[in-house]
Amino acid sequence: MTQQAAPTRTAGRPSGGASSFDIVPTGCALGAEIVGLDIAGEVSSADFARLRQAYDEHSVLVFRGRALQPAEQVAFSRGFGDLERHVVEKYLLPGHPEIFRVSNIVENGQRIGGSGEFWHTDLSYVAEPSRGSLLYAVEVPVRDGVVLGDTEFASSAAAYDALPAALRRKLDDMQAVHRFGDIYAKVNAQRGTTTTLSDEQKKRTPDVVHPVVIRHPFSGRKSLFVNEGFTVSILGVPEAESTRLLEELYAHCKRPEFVYRHKWQPHDLVMWDNWATIHRATGGYTAEERRLMYRTTLQASVPFGSLTPQ
Ligand SMILES: [Fe+2]
Repeated sequence: MTQQAAPTRTAGRPSGGASSFDIVPTGCALGAEIVGLDIAGEVSSADFARLRQAYDEHSVLVFRGRALQPAEQVAFSRGFGDLERHVVEKYLLPGHPEIFRVSNIVENGQRIGGSGEFWHTDLSYVAEPSRGSLLYAVEVPVRDGVVLGDTEFASSAAAYDALPAALRRKLDDMQAVHRFGDIYAKVNAQRGTTTTLSDEQKKRTPDVVHPVVIRHPFSGRKSLFVNEGFTVSILGVPEAESTRLLEELYAHCKRPEFVYRHKWQPHDLVMWDNWATIHRATGGYTAEERRLMYRTTLQASVPFGSLTPQ
């Protein structure tokens, strides 16, 4: 596990001079930093094409230190596809419903944002899981000069590749149930909160079934598509066996060799591919140490049902 982008530049600027940035791999199983691109300005279609290719290849892209207005984040995000609106409306940024707030800040007795201090894939609990997310650091908690609250990303593609062949074949034929509501029991237990889904929110997020393994439509790589946050069971398997197998896969996915840990600075933007990664916030700051992030979420451009592993 590495904390910062490594200095090796393996995918520099293409010849011809049309493009304007470098792609610097982190040296981990996933992730690359994009250096020298002004994402608040006009990004050309050629640059977006390179970014999409880097996104498919590296699964996590890091853009550092460019202050963004919400409308600029939304505009840049739209260069990768249509955006989604989250089901928990109280966490949406007023005036910018495409932005979901990730935060520990309490205003008028209510948290203004969510957070995921457990390994998960955003929105795996819907029928068409989102393609990816872009998270922008508005405010980060700093103690004694050190920024608190990292985000860890694990490559579920590298994790799949490292499994024994017999287990990979078995998993290729399995399906799992994903559910949104259960996570609040875990979050409430962690934080002493009492958040529950309304009947309307429950109705909008019924259980869904997805393959345990998906094949990425653009990179062609297979990935595990189960996560501690939202996967509740494997279909057609006795409960004890399902629980044991899921726990084995969860433990495998978060092994250090599959992980990139992002240490935030204000105005960092990190985007990740939900079809090839899991992630979690590491926490480690108090309720008084303010953290505010803005997330935009990309809709899929192909049906999720087409990501079958065979
Ligand atoms: Fe998340």
